[in-house]
Amino acid sequence: MPQTLVLPQPDDMHLHLRDGDALKAVLPFTAKQMARAIIMPNLKPPVVRVADALAYRQRIQAALPEGSDFQPLMTLYLTDRTTPDWVHEAKSAGIIAFKLYPAGATTNSDAGVTNILLLLPTLHAMSEAGLPLLVHGEVTDSNIDIFDREAAFIERVLKPIIKQVPQLKIVFEHITTAEAAKFVENASDNIAATVTPQHLLLNRNDLLVGGIRPHHYCLPVLKRESHRQALLTAVTGKFAHKFFLGTDSAPHSQHTKECACGCAGVFSAHAALELYAEAFEQAGALDKLAAFASQNGARFYGLPQNSGTITLVKQTQTIPPCFNFGTESLIPMRAGEEIAWSVVSA
Ligand code: NCD
Ligand code: ZN
Ligand code: ZN
Repeated sequence: MPQTLVLPQPDDMHLHLRDGDALKAVLPFTAKQMARAIIMPNLKPPVVRVADALAYRQRIQAALPEGSDFQPLMTLYLTDRTTPDWVHEAKSAGIIAFKLYPAGATTNSDAGVTNILLLLPTLHAMSEAGLPLLVHGEVTDSNIDIFDREAAFIERVLKPIIKQVPQLKIVFEHITTAEAAKFVENASDNIAATVTPQHLLLNRNDLLVGGIRPHHYCLPVLKRESHRQALLTAVTGKFAHKFFLGTDSAPHSQHTKECACGCAGVFSAHAALELYAEAFEQAGALDKLAAFASQNGARFYGLPQNSGTITLVKQTQTIPPCFNFGTESLIPMRAGEEIAWSVVSA
């Protein structure tokens, strides 16, 4: 009998679904595993106002497979123009959070915030409304080395925000460094973090040794092995309740990744839970996977725990070399390779 793990149905607290044909291509993968997902607003143009988010939610619901009860949870893209009134409007409309993209930090961040500390009234309104701020935590100054941008963000942006608005709920998204893990561990309980499967399973050698691997390129960029080890410790350790599943599954067509200036983003939605199972097994902590995947995030967001279950079995699966992505193709994480775990039923 292969080893079996039954978990409460998980949620993906950081997901890129895109729009149109791309949305139709990737949504079924997430809907099959996850009960809910927090949908990132970095479309072109970005999802800035409540009406944009509600229309986007309808397009997502229309693209769901027949009979699916998957629930998309919508976010708004914070800009220099976001006012406290927009925050109140968002709260009434059931928007779950605001997303901070420092301008220029990542994919579709051109409309992002130039100086978050100029938005203090808006942040106070979010704090009072209990709406979390989700952060892409990297500074963008050209003189800061790309491997140091997350650690610099803690000092230059995160600490000043927390000092000014101490009760604001903040999710430090897709953390990649020992510094970020330690910061979250030592912070109060209104500060949490998501961790992706690629940052738990890969280091920068997987990006750069033996040839450049564009499908392992994402932002924040993969870091050295000691940071990966720190992340594994964080998600399984004493303060593990502060960390939760957020895949940052970020599909880009094959040709936009395999070119002279390739896009940032790893697609992992096709086998998200199986990849996390590998990471937790590697850390000798499969018993901590349920809290990370299915409980910590819901608790942080004040959402009910999911009642359904999902079953993982220690059975090798081979990942297809590519998936359809509208008229293009999409190269998934582990393309053409094996994963040690499989999902049997959702
Ligand atoms: C994301 C994307 O492609 O939208 N890319 C990535 O490398 N993570 C944007 C993001 O989450 O920063
Ligand atoms: Zn990001
Ligand atoms: Zn993302």
